[in-house]
Amino acid sequence: MPRARASAEYGTDRVTQLAHALQCASLAEEAGAGSALIAASLLHDVGHLVHDLGGDAAERGIDDRHEMRGRDWLGKWFGEDVTGPVRLHVDAKRYLTAADPAYFAILSPGSVQSLALQGGPFPTPLAERFIALPHAAAAVKLRRWTRLPRSPERRRRISRISAGISKRHCAASAEPPAAGAMSRKRRFRVLA
Ligand SMILES: [Fe+2]
Repeated sequence: MPRARASAEYGTDRVTQLAHALQCASLAEEAGAGSALIAASLLHDVGHLVHDLGGDAAERGIDDRHEMRGRDWLGKWFGEDVTGPVRLHVDAKRYLTAADPAYFAILSPGSVQSLALQGGPFPTPLAERFIALPHAAAAVKLRRWTRLPRSPERRRRISRISAGISKRHCAASAEPPAAGAMSRKRRFRVLA
């Protein structure tokens, strides 16, 4: 697991990749999702962390295809009940922005930018085709959990979990993350 990169910032939301992942998984758990969908929620953006295109790929007009990278990477350990929603979570954004104007309104600027690179909102025929696919409904649920507002209580809970993971990682690593790990150069401006 590319843990060092997990401390990189998540898009323009002023949270780290790790906190974003934990928030999504936490919301999945609160919603009563099964273990596979909770795992998919936790790991849905891992594809951003397994390439060397840099954290500013979208700013340079590059779609890093992180949903495909994530599906392929996770496929070494997980079945389709996890990799399916991961593979489809970008298309779920394209679906939701076509089907629900309120969803588009809550996207971050970075997510709007990446949406354009990912093809934009689905035209109606593609939206209908998408939602009929296996794992599409799960991907839509996952997608909504990425954008729900964070309550103060949830922020504190995620912060505690994130700090605990970072502490364990630094204690176990022979080479702790460099002090400049959050520098502009190493940020992952993602994008959902
Ligand atoms: Fe994503």
